[in-house]
Amino acid sequence: MTFPDGQYPPEAPRDCSYCSRLVAYRHEVASREPDWFNGAVPSFGDPLADLLVVGLAPGVTGANRTGRPFTGDWAGDLLYATLGKFGFSEGVYKGHPEDGLVLKRAMITNAVRCVPPQNKPVGAEINRCRPFLETRLASLPRLKVILCLGKISHESTVRALGLRLKDHPFGHGTEYDVGPRVLLSSYHCSRYNTNTRRLTPEMFEDVFRRARERLEG
Ligand code: URA
Repeated sequence: MTFPDGQYPPEAPRDCSYCSRLVAYRHEVASREPDWFNGAVPSFGDPLADLLVVGLAPGVTGANRTGRPFTGDWAGDLLYATLGKFGFSEGVYKGHPEDGLVLKRAMITNAVRCVPPQNKPVGAEINRCRPFLETRLASLPRLKVILCLGKISHESTVRALGLRLKDHPFGHGTEYDVGPRVLLSSYHCSRYNTNTRRLTPEMFEDVFRRARERLEG
């Protein structure tokens, strides 16, 4: 499977073979847990989204298990609760893809679509997966606000948008106008960041409040 430049789909094929280390890890997990999703996790949400949330990569027991971004792990509890609080979802998040939750005007994707060992994709994997992010960004006709979770997601998105990192440094709460769109970023809602209170629910909500303001404004 290869895609010529400029012809990447917005979703990696479930059995994407681009990153040998990630393929090997997927296979290793699949041999232990054959009933898990164990593939490139597709984006989830509204194809007419004006908000795109960009995470890092599937968690091994979360999105890699369930097949839906942020679903079934710690990070998802805060993310889905906050999306609900700001009117970006309908239904109740129950941590599995059959919970009937629907995102409204929002979509969630990941900078890297396959689960990386220790939650840490390497630079080559982030670069290899970026064309899918580029196409995902280009495929949302109403996209207005891009909300990146964490530095890796922020930097991959800056590059996907063809912008310079030195003009768009990452920080919690950074906000850049990029043409008709807004690039907002937050610390990642990981278990580590929330347990250490580097990111509190209030700080996370402030970023979503800002996203809502920019969408309505
Ligand atoms: N699950 C995801 O899908 N992405 C993350 O960044 C973290 C957990």
